[in-house]
Amino acid sequence: MSKEALVEVKNLQTYFYTEEGVVKAVDGVDYEIYPGETLGIVGESGCGKSVTSLSIMRLVESPPGKIEGGEINFQGKDLTKLSEKEMRKIRGNDISMIFQEPMTSLNPVYTVGDQIIEAIMLHKGVKRKEARQQAIEMLQKVGIPLPEQRVDEYPHQLSGGMRQRVMIAMALSCDPQLLIADEPTTALDVTIQAQILELMNSLKESYGMAIMMITHDLGVIAEVSDRVAVMYAGKVVEYTDVDSLFEDPKHPYTWGLMNSIPKLDKDVERLEAIPGSVPSPLNFPEGCKFNTRCPLAEGKCFTDEPELIDAEAGHKVRCWRYKDLEEIKARGERIYADQGVKE
Ligand SMILES: Nc1ncnc2c1ncn2[C@@H]1O[C@H](COP(=O)(O)OP(=O)(O)OP(=O)(O)O)[C@@H](O)[C@H]1O
Ligand code: SF4
Ligand SMILES: [Mg+2]
Repeated sequence: MSKEALVEVKNLQTYFYTEEGVVKAVDGVDYEIYPGETLGIVGESGCGKSVTSLSIMRLVESPPGKIEGGEINFQGKDLTKLSEKEMRKIRGNDISMIFQEPMTSLNPVYTVGDQIIEAIMLHKGVKRKEARQQAIEMLQKVGIPLPEQRVDEYPHQLSGGMRQRVMIAMALSCDPQLLIADEPTTALDVTIQAQILELMNSLKESYGMAIMMITHDLGVIAEVSDRVAVMYAGKVVEYTDVDSLFEDPKHPYTWGLMNSIPKLDKDVERLEAIPGSVPSPLNFPEGCKFNTRCPLAEGKCFTDEPELIDAEAGHKVRCWRYKDLEEIKARGERIYADQGVKE
């Protein structure tokens, strides 16, 4: 990509110092987000998706957490080095975040309007009356019916989907350059989820902002992403554009994730699941961190950790045997055990 990156995360390391030991939640993460694009971050629970985004926002709870190394470059500044005061200016003005469960981020004792109005007054320096007008316009933009009425309601009076729209309105009210969305639709039913994703796509077009979309759901990734970073055990293991990822997954982990999605265009689904579970970050294996679950693991995989390298232009992978996987795919063979047919 020729454009300059909006955010460049380089070798980020975020650790938690717990009684049980050091949890290396994020352990050398690299990626870039370009202006106006959606970068999808996908991986199983516990792989470090949220901790990466909280590190960008500098909201990692400390102690026990600490950014131990690396850089987060944003508009010529390394966010890991900014003071809390400088960071407060960036949060909300330049970078906004929406969370999985809006009830935890909306204050139940204030109306939704008051909460958006506060955000607008704080970040845009306008008077209350003007901010109220802008809040109503924002509610309208995110598809809330009767916004003049809804603006004076309390969070508990709205449905889950409406609350998530309010969160999006709040996040967008300061016109951020980057919107971080951490599982924004997981708590919603499928129809509402599709509406929210569509809304985010259309707002991205009209605002020209970049989105970092965190999810464990490859369906969501396919729906919204331009490029994707697949995470496993605190690291990026595959990184490319969304079409290449789905057409030509190069990491055995990505391959496994894809084979566990039901294929709706077939009469029956054959599912191949990745065996075992994610290793504890207190106790990562030596060598490649996926070696405890990888059907292709051998020799070097148990002693040396592979680097994230360019397998092709614009397609990075962290695996010693990605070329062997290519041959296996070309022969039409499977690598994971068949879990059978699911009706
Ligand atoms: N405050 C904390 N103290 C100790 N460990 C933590 C803390 N916060 C996160 N971790 C650990 O860091 C690792 C990464 O967590 P993270 O929340 O980033 O996962 P995730 O990929 O977002 O998962 P999920 O899909 O479940 O949201 C996990 O092993 C988690 O237990
Ligand atoms: S490096 Fe080895 S263990 Fe790791 S994903 Fe590749 S083949 Fe599997
Ligand atoms: Mg998370």
